[in-house]
Amino acid sequence: MEKEKFYITTAIYYLNDKPHIGSVSEAIAADVMARYKRLRGFDVFFSTGTDEHAQKIEERAKKEGIDPQEFVDRASSVWKQIFNDFGISYDRFIRTSDKDHIEVVKHFFQKLYEKGDIYLGTYEGWYCVRDATFLKDSDLIDGKCPICGGPVKKIKEPNYFFKLSKYEKPLLEYYEAHKDFLQPDFRYNEVINVIKSGLQDVSVSRKSFKFGIPIPFDPDHTIYVWFDALLNYLTSVGFLQDKEKFNHFWPADLHLIGKDITRFHGIIWPAMLMSYGLPLPKTIFAHGFWNLEGEKMSKSKGNVVNPSLFVESFSGEAHIDKKTAVDVLRYYLSREVTFGQDGNFKMETFISRYNSDLANDFGNLLNRTVSMLYKYFDGYIPNGKTDPESKEFISKSEEEYFNKMDLFNLSQALESVWGIINYLNNYIQVKQPWKLKNQRSTLSDVIYTLLEGIRHASLLVSPFMPSVSEKILKSLTNEEKSFNFDLLESGNKVEKLPPIFPRLEKEKIKIDTKKEKPEEKPLIDYEDFAKLDLRVAKIIDAEKVPKSKKLIKLRISLEDEERTIVGGIALHYNPEELIGKKIIVIKNLKPRKLMGITSQGMLLAASNDEEFSLLSLDRDVKEGSKIS
Ligand code: MSP
Repeated sequence: MEKEKFYITTAIYYLNDKPHIGSVSEAIAADVMARYKRLRGFDVFFSTGTDEHAQKIEERAKKEGIDPQEFVDRASSVWKQIFNDFGISYDRFIRTSDKDHIEVVKHFFQKLYEKGDIYLGTYEGWYCVRDATFLKDSDLIDGKCPICGGPVKKIKEPNYFFKLSKYEKPLLEYYEAHKDFLQPDFRYNEVINVIKSGLQDVSVSRKSFKFGIPIPFDPDHTIYVWFDALLNYLTSVGFLQDKEKFNHFWPADLHLIGKDITRFHGIIWPAMLMSYGLPLPKTIFAHGFWNLEGEKMSKSKGNVVNPSLFVESFSGEAHIDKKTAVDVLRYYLSREVTFGQDGNFKMETFISRYNSDLANDFGNLLNRTVSMLYKYFDGYIPNGKTDPESKEFISKSEEEYFNKMDLFNLSQALESVWGIINYLNNYIQVKQPWKLKNQRSTLSDVIYTLLEGIRHASLLVSPFMPSVSEKILKSLTNEEKSFNFDLLESGNKVEKLPPIFPRLEKEKIKIDTKKEKPEEKPLIDYEDFAKLDLRVAKIIDAEKVPKSKKLIKLRISLEDEERTIVGGIALHYNPEELIGKKIIVIKNLKPRKLMGITSQGMLLAASNDEEFSLLSLDRDVKEGSKIS
């Protein structure tokens, strides 16, 4: 019989931000589902990737003095690496700059245009030049850009529009007929209300920036990043490239996304598919957001947890390998929230979950069982069979687990597994194997039951903790993926592992954020370097800038002229000790005002988190001398 297929996707990630616990949590949840479906025998295709044509990319690349493509290549590889480190078992890592995707986007746009669902109109609205962002009246704060607080200007430009309004009724009908289309229920209601309140046509092109996919029939326009990004779900499974594959996997069974992008997925995306004439995805599931210690994670607050650094610190503190530490984090993220609701990442609950669920419950079960196996059977699996009552309990819990997983209720599914683990721990107390030394056959059955129970529990946790599960199953010398019973082979020797989850006697894990590597700057040409006019300068006067903790105003001599420069060095130097020093300055930096003082150049200094030093000379050289 042909295997049933399951096509699952995550949102694709913007490259202006680095991965954090929140964004990675989505990929982990999707990975858990993908692995679960594989375990249940489905033919799974799992797609994730990066969304590379965002408006800010062009700006960011310009700031760094590199080509946007070079910027996205580098940033995308950071995401790919982290997904590999976190065991994300994707079948395709799609990048919207991939050739096949660009072809799909152009084709799709053209088709909708030919159909009359895309037309040329005029976009009128606010635009922030600094952030290259289009804004509505309601976005502005005191008439200014909500992102940078800077001025905005009214723009009017020709844009192509998608006839979203035409799909208002068909969308409503579809929603009425498919109650499971968007989950959880409260999101379904939210979206249906938006549709009912009336849909307007949406702009799907931009004229003012170039980094993106040009419209094939009007290349002065760039296709809007969301129109482009949503189509990744088609490209990934071979749309236009591999008919057989596409027909097999499309429509997607599950688009996993965050609550903030529900409307794009719940309204624009299905309308685009209706317009083209393709079937809609079966389910869109919008999960909640992870906060950190009760606060929204944001770069400006500096409370974004880098998942790799977290895992590194935790593995060091708990004395476990990195793969196990990754699995613990995957477990915590899946167990701690009811999927769909917001979650609060708290160090304290992370550690207490680790200690209670993993070190105590699961870890102790493993340690006690294996040590009894060694004590009574020298480590060899006895010739026994699973106790019928235990078999019934485990099977019932398994059914519960399958039901919960099918409803994306990851946390409750794990509860069912812990039901088995706790049952087995209790089984040891009840059966008291240490009193059965003279009843070999009963003792064999009890130990066999425990081992078989552990095999089942390990299989069930495998979507969440793939590396730990594999380690345990390997040690049982049986990697059988079946949920039937009595599959452990008696006579095989079980490998004695050191404790997988040693208890952590700490309340907090220190996360070494300093280890975060500074972004490497791109190579430059000599001509770029030669643009700098670096000079030796002598400090002839220095004073602290009033009301500033950091700034010192310096009067410097460059032999033929004197200048004023302002430097942020007051935390490291007293003004008096600076007078007479020879330092290095950039002479041709455009003047800048700092605390009302015009700085005509900039001094050079070396610094890291702990140390600071002005650049000075090894031998005395006359002020004004050039540096090359
Ligand atoms: N590029 C768009 C998606 C296009 S899909 C065709 C985008 N990218 S994003 O990088 O901003 O977000 C990617 C996913 O991460 C989204 O589903 C978003 O909801 C999710 N998350 C971002 N921050 C999150 C948390 N703090 N917690 C959980 N998920 C979070 O939007």
